[in-house]
Amino acid sequence: MPHKPFKAVIPAAGLGTRFLPATKAMPKEMLPVVDKPAIQYVVEEAVESGIQDVLIIIGRNKNNIANHFDSVPELETTLERKGDIDRLAKVKHSSDLADIHMVRQGEPRGLGHAVWRAKAHVGDHPFAVLLGDDLIDERDPLLPKMLAEYDRRGAAVVALMEVDPEQIHLYGAAAVEATDDPDVVKVTGLVEKPNVDEAPSNLAVIGRYVLPPEVFEILERTEPGKGGEIQLTDALQELATATAEGVYGVIFRGRRYDTGDRLDYIKAIVQLAADREDLGPQLRPWLQEFAATL
Ligand code: G1P
Repeated sequence: MPHKPFKAVIPAAGLGTRFLPATKAMPKEMLPVVDKPAIQYVVEEAVESGIQDVLIIIGRNKNNIANHFDSVPELETTLERKGDIDRLAKVKHSSDLADIHMVRQGEPRGLGHAVWRAKAHVGDHPFAVLLGDDLIDERDPLLPKMLAEYDRRGAAVVALMEVDPEQIHLYGAAAVEATDDPDVVKVTGLVEKPNVDEAPSNLAVIGRYVLPPEVFEILERTEPGKGGEIQLTDALQELATATAEGVYGVIFRGRRYDTGDRLDYIKAIVQLAADREDLGPQLRPWLQEFAATL
């Protein structure tokens, strides 16, 4: 039976400790990447992939996110009065983008727990999970391929990317076997943030998942793992090893921007701005001049 359209779940309830004090009163997902909050890129990616229903799992400081995706009549009226049509369109865009829902995580008990909080909204249907730390360049679409693989194989799909082995301790790492598609692997095991010498490969889970509803039952009984948190990776390890359908990985070879730590966040902004038509022509020569002074 064909499933209902996929819903998207965006966990945004982390404490954002790496960005303190910027994240003292604002979720890290609201930090601007050039001129849009990181979470807007992620919602736009879901919409571009054909998903209209987006559930954001929020923590403290939730109002910032809710307000961003809501209309702001007084701002719209002011821009209208000034005839600033471009900015008016940008302001309206984020509130018209998708059908946005919110649920609170309550206690921050880990990514697995955040995803589990989506259970009532998602119901008995497959869904996509998008993490705001990983921005996928819109010119290199990843999620549509993952949704298609879910449909083809009827199994959970994670996004995998080769990383420098020295970096694997920052990610979930996958043990894999080849399939007939060079961009798709069968995942035979997953470990959350292993040491380099214990990692099954240098294939890192990047923050895109397409999951069956069965994952909720697994998450419900998943014990706290790495860092004392309920890990999505541990639930996926069970899906990969203890279910007939298993888990597949789509290998991503496109442009990804990591906004999860400060240095990578700065790099992401520079890379994206340098590529933009409105900013790139001025930024690129300046970057060259600046680099020459270093
Ligand atoms: C989370 C997941 C990890 C995954 C990563 C991708 O970790 O737990 O498995 O590889 O996202 O960004 P976090 O970055 O939230 O610590």
